[in-house]
Order: sequence, then C-alpha cells, then structure tokens
Amino acid sequence: MNERTSFVPADRVAALPPYLFAGIDRARAEAEARGLDIISLGIGDPDTPTPDFIIEALRGAAGRPDNHRYPSYEGMPAFRRAVADWYAARFGVDDLDPDREILCTIGSKEAIGHFPFAWVNPGDLVLVPSPGYPVYAIAARFAGAEVLPLPLTEENGFLPNLDAIDEAVWDRAKIIWLNSPNNPTGSMASLDFYGRLVSLCRRHHVILAHDSAYSEIYYDDADKPLSVFSVPGARDVAIEFQSLSKTYNMTGWRVGMAVGNAELVRGLGVIKENMDSGTFQAVQEAAMAALRGGDAFCRELRRMYRGRRDTVCAALRRFGLRFYEPRGALYVWARVPDGFTSESFVSRVLNETGVVLTPGTGFGAAGEGWFRISLTVPTARLEEAMSRLARVQAMNGAAGAGGVL
Ligand code: MLT
Repeated sequence: MNERTSFVPADRVAALPPYLFAGIDRARAEAEARGLDIISLGIGDPDTPTPDFIIEALRGAAGRPDNHRYPSYEGMPAFRRAVADWYAARFGVDDLDPDREILCTIGSKEAIGHFPFAWVNPGDLVLVPSPGYPVYAIAARFAGAEVLPLPLTEENGFLPNLDAIDEAVWDRAKIIWLNSPNNPTGSMASLDFYGRLVSLCRRHHVILAHDSAYSEIYYDDADKPLSVFSVPGARDVAIEFQSLSKTYNMTGWRVGMAVGNAELVRGLGVIKENMDSGTFQAVQEAAMAALRGGDAFCRELRRMYRGRRDTVCAALRRFGLRFYEPRGALYVWARVPDGFTSESFVSRVLNETGVVLTPGTGFGAAGEGWFRISLTVPTARLEEAMSRLARVQAMNGAAGAGGVL
C-alpha cells in the first residue's frame, strides 16, 4: 500500500511566490548562522519602543475583566469615536459617523487582505501600484481577481499615471489601490492628484482603496500627507486603511482602522465577522490613548526619522547611487549599481556584509533595478550599514553619478 506523505496545496497557494518579508527573515537567519553581524534594513518595523503612556493605558485596561471577553466585531464605540476625533483634528475631516463609517481592524494588513473578498468576483479587475505593498495583489488574486499593475516611475514622481489608464480598463476595474505616503518609494499624492483620482473613480464607479498607514511619517511640516477624504465627494467611492503600527511604534499590537464610505466599511465588516473576532479591548483602549495623546510623540518620531533619512541620503550621494528623496514613509528607494539586478545586489550585500536590504522586485516587476532601505535602525548602525554598502559598491568598481533623482 502506498501511503501518502504530503498534501497537495490549493492552487492559490501553490502559485504564490514566498511572502517577501518571510523570505527576507529566512535569508537573514541564514546569514546570522554563518556568523555575520546583521544590520537589518529589510522590514519597516520600528526599532524604538511604544511610548510609556500607551503601555500604561494597556496595563490598566488589561486588568479589567470586562475587557477579557470577546470584543464587538466593529470595535468599541469609544474607539471609533476616538478615530473620528483624530480624523477631525489631523485632517479636518470632521463629520465621520463612528457607527457607519469606521471599523476597528487587526492592523491595516489584515483589513487590506480581507477587503477584496467583500467586493471582487472571479475575473474582476483590480489595479495595484507597482512597485507596491505585496498584499494588494496577493489578496486580490486570492479572491479570484485579475490584477493589473500600475507602474510607478521616476517620470511620474512614483505615482500612478492616471492619464495612461485606458477608458476600457477604468470601465472593467472594480478596485484601484493607492498608497500615500508610498511604500516602498516615499512618494506622496497631492490634493490635485487625489481630486483627479476621486473624480475618475466616481465617473467609472470604481472603488478607491487608499492605504494611509504612513500618514504620520513625513519629512516636511509644510508638506503633510493628506487623507483621501480631504477631497469632496471621496466618501462616495473611497475607503482608507489606517494603522497605529508605524505612527506609535505599535507593529506588534495589531490595531488599525478602516474609514470611509459606509457601504464599503460594512462590506469589510461582513467578511471580518466571519473570519475573526475583533481586537482585544485593552488594545483598543491603549490605541485610544495613542490617538488622543500621541502628537508630541509623533513629532519626536518624525525628527528621528528625518535624521536617519538625511544620513542615508548623504551616504548614497557620497558613494554614487541614485535615489528618490522620500517625502513620507520610512524608506529610501535607491537604484542598484550598474551590473546588478535587484536580487543579485541585495544577495551580495547580505552575503558579504550582513546588511539586509529589500530587493525592489519584491514589490513587483516594476521594482527591478531598485532596492529599499528601511530607516528602522539607529543612526550609528545606519552609518555602519552604509559604509558596508560602499565597500560592495567599490568592489564592483561602479561609481556612477549619485544623488537625488
Ligand atoms: C514593510 O516593510 O513594507 C512593512 O513593514 C510591511 C508591513 O507593514 O506589513
């Protein structure tokens, strides 16, 4: 008798490339096992701790038995009120209805991953930025959609070229994803851009899904990221995904919110009710404390990232690599030296120096020729990482004209 020793995975899993950040973790562990001193610039996981006032709020809330039971699916009314107040204070969007237009999520990744299941049928078309956060495309494919990458190029300031999308594509599309401030490039959409996108989505009846997880990480106080809801009429077509992860150093806490069009929010809620049981109430209470009292912390966080960004950009300039100077998010997007692909450069840097970078191709085919540096290590380690990178660049003998694109 032949005993079966393995199971055949579902087609949707068999067709998947390894998840980008899990692959990076494995490569890093292998290099570490070989005795290399690792500096990980691979994932955008803030290295400084969650502020004490948020931890204190969790401590208090975790001790209360009423918080130990199942939370409500949509999130505590007080949490949703705090989100509405934060949107009013931060973006001037002051009329969100906490009951219909706000949902608590288990961080933004979970909500982004579940969203297409509410709206997409097999064969529907979903437009995603490329390079882009991998979950937009993966989740759409899981839901059976066809995915069309929208290239983000230097020429278009790393925003989708709206004029290059055919009318026929608009007519077929069900969802278009936008991410501003952008991961991995650091670009940011202007009010004019949001306005054009909203009006196209309204005209063609396309859902505008906006990932705004990096809205509080920006480099110029006179150039703050906007909410899509800064545009009149956006609430007819848009949903925005927010997260406390990067804003308050809370990646491990898994809390965020989906905000916007009541029908879109409700659709996501239906999927979530059937798939998860909400966010621990004590975490929601800590998140409320963050939203209500986190402004001074965020100012300091931005100051820290600004210093790190400037360190990296100065080093890239010095040793001759071209890069986009980010306006937001916590990454620097740079060209690989001549003679390398994204993968070959990142592998060589890891194997020879222990510095973990993210290959541009991990964010889609349009990322070929690029790599991403995450600013989530202290400045001294960033400086060390950059000098190791310079060694690989020098070994390659390819010192081009470096600088901002
Ligand atoms: C990244 O490095 O792109 C992000 O940290 C990944 C994530 O937020 O899931």
